[in-house]
Amino acid sequence: MKILLTGNNGQIGWELAHALAPLGEVSAFDRGGLDLAVPDQIVGAVRSVRPDVLVNAAAYTAVDRAESEPDAAHAVNAAAAAILAEEAKRVRALLIHFSTDYVFDGAKDTPYVEEDRPNPINVYGRSKLAGEQAIRSIDGPHLILRTSWVYATRGRNFFLTIRRLLREKDEIRVVSDQAALADARGVYHATAGGCTSWHGFATEIARLERPVPAVRLVAIASSDYHSPARRPKNSRLSNEKLLLHFGIGLPQWESCLEACYVRLNQGAHAGGKE
Ligand SMILES: NC(=O)c1ccc[n+]([C@@H]2O[C@H](COP(=O)([O-])OP(=O)(O)OC[C@H]3O[C@@H](n4cnc5c(N)ncnc54)[C@H](OP(=O)(O)O)[C@@H]3O)[C@@H](O)[C@H]2O)c1
Repeated sequence: MKILLTGNNGQIGWELAHALAPLGEVSAFDRGGLDLAVPDQIVGAVRSVRPDVLVNAAAYTAVDRAESEPDAAHAVNAAAAAILAEEAKRVRALLIHFSTDYVFDGAKDTPYVEEDRPNPINVYGRSKLAGEQAIRSIDGPHLILRTSWVYATRGRNFFLTIRRLLREKDEIRVVSDQAALADARGVYHATAGGCTSWHGFATEIARLERPVPAVRLVAIASSDYHSPARRPKNSRLSNEKLLLHFGIGLPQWESCLEACYVRLNQGAHAGGKE
């Protein structure tokens, strides 16, 4: 099986490049090899690889910066997604595309299911929703996996930021009122099980850190955390459909975090962009 992977240098892409290797011949592209903002490069890459599966793990993910760069966000998250979908359909490849909890406004009290109506409240969310809509309307074989709160032992993410702050600060103020869980066509939610707030997540990181940090973690409200982009208050995604259709149950978020520490302790590189 031939697999074309984009976003090879990103958090998800990096993990997938390794995880997919046993499944077939993986052609993995970083931005240098395939710039999604350049339509001709997308067309050229897909037509030369002619993959059976095209995995799009690349995206414009700078949520705050997107507020001042809507065109750049749209080019990668929406326009490029549409071209990838057209090209995948043309070579009869299955397109696996990642999307986000930020397609929702967060106003719901319970976990979001796939049938809930999206209503993004920031530029990034709108660009990702436009990408989803383009892929669905082109209607080749596709899976859209909506995930949330991605972190890894490399990259730029909440986990590595909190680890750094635990070493550098006496007190960290963390938002405690935003929460998250986690025929080949359709949208599926795929996140870790369970639910916590950013403050709860930071507390668990501090609990697992060695030596035990002396930092005070202060729970604050979203209204006290100022950022250019608004974020949904409720990011919980229900994974029921994934379990029902594919029998895939994802582990609880606490076990995922512990597994991340096991990898760090085994020497997994925490370099990358952080
Ligand atoms: N991070 C999260 O918390 C989160 C939450 C929900 C959903 N998601 C979704 O999950 C997917 C993967 O996210 P991630 O956390 O792995 O993101 P990430 O670490 O920011 O990686 C994204 C990758 O996309 C690449 N990229 C950006 N613009 C590009 C372009 N014009 N051409 C080619 N490549 C480009 C980046 O390249 P450079 O390394 O050169 O910048 C980067 O390697 C995305 O679809 C994202 O929307 C992420």
